Amino acid sequence: MKIVNGKDGLAKEAANYIVEHLKKRDASVLGLATGSTPVGTYKELIAMHKEGKVSFANVHTFNLDEYVGLKNTDTNSYHYYMKELFFSHIDVPEDQFHLPKGTAEDIEAECHTYEKLIRQTGGIDLQLLGIGTNGHIGFNEPGTSFQSRTHVVTLDESTREANARFFDAIEDVPTHAITMGIESILEAKDILLLVAGKEKGEALSELLYGDVREDIPATALRKHPSVTVIVDTEAYQAAKIPGEENLYGG
Ligand code: F6R
Repeated sequence: MKIVNGKDGLAKEAANYIVEHLKKRDASVLGLATGSTPVGTYKELIAMHKEGKVSFANVHTFNLDEYVGLKNTDTNSYHYYMKELFFSHIDVPEDQFHLPKGTAEDIEAECHTYEKLIRQTGGIDLQLLGIGTNGHIGFNEPGTSFQSRTHVVTLDESTREANARFFDAIEDVPTHAITMGIESILEAKDILLLVAGKEKGEALSELLYGDVREDIPATALRKHPSVTVIVDTEAYQAAKIPGEENLYGG
């Protein structure tokens, strides 16, 4: 676990980690996340790309999730977020980035298609993750089976409330989303989890010290052999149990 100072520290550490990962291989499949936490990381990666330090020409990407029912052009869709905040500023070819299609006519079939595409592309090498205040990863809400694959979910009220800040009103926040499942996430070869802000303290504490259980989806990460956690001091202090070593060596 790496503890960093503030949003800038987190963004730099995470971007450097991703660039180092890419440097070690000719091609890579990245799993990507949205939300507020990785925004700075994408900014930093764009800056590094513009300075010639990294190319995404041989990178394929798969996002964790997308709302059901929002068009790609909707400013609250994750398609829009990824294009605006990352893809349109880097050299990743259009046919190499993927998000679940939340407007697909057959949403269940879309979940299978998405899983298949990930497999056909060789599986995810590095999965970037954020964490919800309730411990969700992707849109896998508390209680989601650790055996879950890409599926449709009904969003928790707490998640809709947390995400309402991006919409005009809470009623506009979609009630459903497509998300990669816990098992799909755990298949990534490496996982990079970013945790920022004191409101994430409790979820971080569960991840570090709590029992592994489906009530707190992020605890599934403890079953994975290669997870790197980058935490800002606010989240770390809010989570810290004095005198206790945690599992990630912080
Ligand atoms: C987004 C995602 C979510 C977020 C989580 C934290 O693709 O998968 O699990 O990572 O809701 O969101 P922020 O970063 O906005 O606190």
